[in-house]
Amino acid sequence: MSIFSESAFSASTLTRFAKEVAKYPADQKQSAVMACLAIAQQELGYVSPESEAAIGAYLGMPTIAVHEVTTFYNMYNQAPVGKFKLNVCTNLPCQLGAHGGGQKALDHVCKRLGVEPYGTTADGVFTVQPSECLGACADAPVLLVNDRDMCSLMTNAKLDALLDGLKAEAAK
Ligand code: FES
Repeated sequence: MSIFSESAFSASTLTRFAKEVAKYPADQKQSAVMACLAIAQQELGYVSPESEAAIGAYLGMPTIAVHEVTTFYNMYNQAPVGKFKLNVCTNLPCQLGAHGGGQKALDHVCKRLGVEPYGTTADGVFTVQPSECLGACADAPVLLVNDRDMCSLMTNAKLDALLDGLKAEAAK
């Protein structure tokens, strides 16, 4: 491990990296790249270019290969995001959903929060992003909160209730 990679993360993060690497044969430690990126994001809130370089050094892979993984998956943030990241699916099947398209849901959320797609509210509470298929096409429009909580059949009324609830949670 290089001095750079050691200084880029906390000791507990490096311990978690080692645990992930230990799951694979010694000559295949690059297989831990997704887990390491997720752990780095938990520590910093996003995956910085420095984190990518450090993970590349740690796993013995080119930084560009790490970057390719970061940019392929929606769940990795390439810049700081708000407390709640909202991914609204705007893929074709969701555009055809019974409750109106995903784009309509995205437009509603953006209008309600006063942000453009990929924007973060001034108070740092929300980041809104269009997203590719979230695997719940039959429940369109769908939205994923912080890469974990799936919200289905999101009418404008349900979107408003969700935003109000998250705002109240952020204010606690
Ligand atoms: S297209 Fe939106 S969840 Fe599949």
